[in-house]
Amino acid sequence: MALHVIWPAPDQAGADSRLAEILNGTLEGREIVLHRRAEELNGLRGERLLFALPLGETGTNLEGVRILARLRREPDLLAGCTAGLVVDGASPLYTKSAAAELTLAANLAGCAFLGRPLVEGAGNLANFRVQAANLGTDLMGAYRAAARELAARLEGERSLERETPELLVLHASSHHTSNTVALWEQTRERLGQDFICTEIGLRNGTLYDCSGCPYTMCLHFGERGGCFYGGLMQEEVYPAVRRCDGLVMLCPNYNDALSANLTACINRLTALFRQTRFYDKALFAVVVSGYSGGDIVARQLISALNMNKSFYLPGRFALMETANDPGGALKLPGIQERLDAFAQNIRDTLFAR
Ligand SMILES: Cc1cc2nc3c(=O)[nH]c(=O)nc-3n(C[C@H](O)[C@H](O)[C@H](O)COP(=O)(O)O)c2cc1C
Repeated sequence: MALHVIWPAPDQAGADSRLAEILNGTLEGREIVLHRRAEELNGLRGERLLFALPLGETGTNLEGVRILARLRREPDLLAGCTAGLVVDGASPLYTKSAAAELTLAANLAGCAFLGRPLVEGAGNLANFRVQAANLGTDLMGAYRAAARELAARLEGERSLERETPELLVLHASSHHTSNTVALWEQTRERLGQDFICTEIGLRNGTLYDCSGCPYTMCLHFGERGGCFYGGLMQEEVYPAVRRCDGLVMLCPNYNDALSANLTACINRLTALFRQTRFYDKALFAVVVSGYSGGDIVARQLISALNMNKSFYLPGRFALMETANDPGGALKLPGIQERLDAFAQNIRDTLFAR
């Protein structure tokens, strides 16, 4: 199966020479189809994609913006595709935010992303120091190795379907009034008896944020299935994350971000992540904003759980709605159809027919 490489030309001539070197090493011997302009993104349904985004010194790519516009205009453009990304910039800033923005736009156009889908060539490549030391190579060698590993995983990607999939649902809301919980309850009804659902409430007082223990201490506790603080995370959340095939995050928009308890929970997943990867667990989310900004919360989930913590991101992973009054989300025009589509997406991703 050919790999489709979507590589918009940089704003400044030559600003993709390092990226070109990485891609040459990564793609050598592979059958590839190259797309350099937004107009060339046709007939891609069901394909494997590698986005290659050069950002130069300014952290921008004008052709990349034209691709974003096309993805946002055509919600089925990348239906059934699976992707990874290599993002390269002369600054240590902007690579992650540009990657998350592109990932969300492609995801809303139907594209799934591997767990840990991003290889970042950020600034002077200091982000590769640890990998370079582990591999006994230099920074550029570690960058090359990461890109090759990503391309190999893209080629070997498998289905997540199970006989009786288990979902872990994490929320931090009041059941009686919450819009996110109400949307989830409607989704769960649609899934019926084919799924096992474990729901855990992370209300105030149920967990501490990560204390940022030294790496070896985090590893020590993680290897014993725990974390320095123990409690609900160790007793309920870690075992449920290990068991689950899909993680569903119920996320009200709090000041254009995930709420503090959900963020603390993700931070605390670090101890579990030290000893296991989540490549074969799918991430879903219900995001409700009172006014606007659901895309910022969705991008935060992509950065934290897909790019950092390695959860698989199915196409259209999030149901994003705008509602403020209690009960308001279920009164939105067209909500029943969107709930049908969201539940069907969970079913199509995880349920083996
Ligand atoms: C602390 C707090 C901060 C909020 N910040 C925002 C915000 O930045 N933008 C926005 O659109 N809505 C904001 N909202 C509104 C909620 O996103 C909205 O009411 C949503 O329905 C809450 O979901 P829930 O009912 O599941 O708790 C905020 C609400 C709270 C309580």
